[in-house]
Amino acid sequence: MKEQIEQIKLASIEEVKNAKEVKELNDLKVKYLGKKGELTLLLRGMGALSPEERPIIGGLVNSVRDELNQLFEAKEKELQKKELAEKLEAEKIDVTLPSNKTKTGSKHPLNRVIEEIEDLFVSMGYDVVEGPELETDEYCFERLNLPKGHPARDMQDSFYITPEYLLRTQTSAVQARVMMANEEKTPIRVIVPGKTYRREDDATHSHQFNQVEGLVVDKNITLAHLKGTLEVFMRKLLGENTELRFRPSYFPFTEPSYEVDVSCFKCGGKGCNLCKQTGWIELLGAGMVHPNVLKMNGYDPKVYTGFAFGTGLDRLAMFKYGITDMRYLYRNDVRFLSQFDEMDR
Ligand code: DAH
Repeated sequence: MKEQIEQIKLASIEEVKNAKEVKELNDLKVKYLGKKGELTLLLRGMGALSPEERPIIGGLVNSVRDELNQLFEAKEKELQKKELAEKLEAEKIDVTLPSNKTKTGSKHPLNRVIEEIEDLFVSMGYDVVEGPELETDEYCFERLNLPKGHPARDMQDSFYITPEYLLRTQTSAVQARVMMANEEKTPIRVIVPGKTYRREDDATHSHQFNQVEGLVVDKNITLAHLKGTLEVFMRKLLGENTELRFRPSYFPFTEPSYEVDVSCFKCGGKGCNLCKQTGWIELLGAGMVHPNVLKMNGYDPKVYTGFAFGTGLDRLAMFKYGITDMRYLYRNDVRFLSQFDEMDR
């Protein structure tokens, strides 16, 4: 019997040593120490032994069982540790790997242009202000020296809602608003980006478009300030080599008035299809604020002078990015909109 015990001991130690998984180890535990395990069966068979032999064999079996128990415990810990390590290794995440490509939106070309213009003018000390899109006839026209029945009203096809209210045709309306709102009649330096509306719709016009207006009112403001400001503006937006050309023109709210052309940035002024072979592109309306406009909005034209300008943001964006049809700007086609990140890089 002693030999049998010794054999079981050696065999079990060997098997436990070689166990590869916790599950295998548990099976071995059942095999040797379980209710029907080999050692247990031996203990049960002790009845057949003589009274002298019994304590000796009993003691031996118990010590082997204790030894095995310890062995199982140690092995179990070892295997658990190993399995955990393997699991951690298998589930390891490399946080330094590049992620899957996610789709991100991109800024609308109009917003790009607006933000660039705002940054520039804010850096020169201007405020950015807004006004209502549903405007009164008074602010859109009358306070800009365009009384009812004035022929120049025909320059802009307007959407009237009632005889008094219309969708503003020009951000110039905000010129009057800013001057009227300034109760102390202190100097003004503002730009006004915003939506404007006219009854037109073709490749270069949309019924809704965007303008940016500029207004400066102060003592001793001259045409030279206007020219310098527009030069900085256009060169920043369209390139350092951009040249400006001031053509005398007519706007009811400025005197003198100009239409301002920039040298074609596609051909540099040589003449191409973009500038219709002229070398110039008309981009802005501008001039010195008409004394009537100053007066009507509470500024003394003997003390103050000012300049103003207005330009179409859509046209600017089209030229800057080579967009051929203004209506693309309003269709929200992702294929169109996603191109501009690349272009600005
Ligand atoms: N408001 C004019 C338009 O929409 C553009 C314009 C011309 C604005 C001259 C001005 C200006 O401020 O001085 O056609």
